[in-house]
Amino acid sequence: MLSTEDNSLLTRVSKGTAMNNLFRRFWLPVLLAAELPTPDCPPVRVRVLDEELVAFRDTNGRVGLLDQRCPHRHANLFWGRNEDGGLRCVYHGWKFDVTGRCVDIPNAIEGESFKEKIHAFAAYPAVDNGGLIWAYLGPPELEPQLPHFDFAHVADNQRFVRKMLLPGNYLQIMEGDVDSSHVSFLHHAGVAPKGVMKIAGAASPYMVLNRQPHWEIENTDYGVRLAARRDAEPDTYYWRVNQWCMPSYAIIAAEAEALIHINIRVPVSDTETMYFRLWWHPERPLTELEVDELESGGVIMPDMIPGTFLTAENMRNDYLIDRSKQGSGASYTGIKSISAQDFAVQEDQGGPIMDRSLEHLVSSDAAIIAVRKRLLDATKALADGVEPPEAADGDLYRVRSLDTILPRDVPLAVGGRDLMTARV
Ligand code: FES
Ligand SMILES: [Fe+2]
Repeated sequence: MLSTEDNSLLTRVSKGTAMNNLFRRFWLPVLLAAELPTPDCPPVRVRVLDEELVAFRDTNGRVGLLDQRCPHRHANLFWGRNEDGGLRCVYHGWKFDVTGRCVDIPNAIEGESFKEKIHAFAAYPAVDNGGLIWAYLGPPELEPQLPHFDFAHVADNQRFVRKMLLPGNYLQIMEGDVDSSHVSFLHHAGVAPKGVMKIAGAASPYMVLNRQPHWEIENTDYGVRLAARRDAEPDTYYWRVNQWCMPSYAIIAAEAEALIHINIRVPVSDTETMYFRLWWHPERPLTELEVDELESGGVIMPDMIPGTFLTAENMRNDYLIDRSKQGSGASYTGIKSISAQDFAVQEDQGGPIMDRSLEHLVSSDAAIIAVRKRLLDATKALADGVEPPEAADGDLYRVRSLDTILPRDVPLAVGGRDLMTARV
């Protein structure tokens, strides 16, 4: 349970709030790289951290991310022409480069000199990395390092990327990632019917046999390591370890040789969240079968409404729940995709912003408590002038999750050390 004040601190992300300020200290993914596929391609809208922006890739391939309002009379630059090294407003032709500098004012005789005084209302650094476009929306003098995630250092064909726009506050959606307890229930049965991919843990008999794991929660220099330990055989334990990294990344437990996946939650507004989900293999390209299962199976990943980042199973249609499947035991929920099973319970937890002063936590919520504390501490420290140390060192993010069996007499820190270190 949280006080009402702490719940507000954690969940409110409009401009000027403490949490908005904290997120601005980190590079954040804001687009799929595929949304800006070529130089001079059409610009796209970006809504993030309570800002309305427009992104474009200029003639030289550089990405610009500008306030959507043209500084002249505030027409939306989204309608702009992306041409010859800049984005030109279609209302009166003013043009801006990726740094936000005004480079042409063609509709006034004083334009040649006046343009020197004009700058986009906001222009943020943006770069391609790992199939995503990342932006930094914080103070320029504090620009941090990109997090050196494993997935950003593999070839494109070793990675699958998906973006979704969800209703609901980022925190309650993200809390599902650090809630290993729910996997034994919510996602039980009805998983991976093609049998091509392993959804780590969801199909493990130990997850079902033991729904009350022993938790080992450890604060680390990158975030929180969340280890759930279950009895396996008489002399072994089944370990399932998620890595939560500041401020909103969760690398989900994955068996050796299985694809690894990471969930990234980026606040759009108090009640909307951008969700990037990536799968990758550190050593080899994804197989056709794996890509097919991720793209078209509709079980691991949800079907999308064509031309949007909205999921076909959604709140408005009750996530297409099939009560007969739920009743027959073919699926615990009756909801087809694993992602939509999560959305159904997370997008509405007493509303889009859960009132955590009314919840009743138990021992299986230990990981959630630890992550909230980490975020709260960082938010309060920043308000006191202490910058988040994680942002300064991208190498801290070279971590992996774990899903493995270890002898009972081998501590996780010893038996799992190499497996939990990224080698790419
Ligand atoms: S409003 Fe953009 S050029 Fe006039
Ligand atoms: Fe889940």
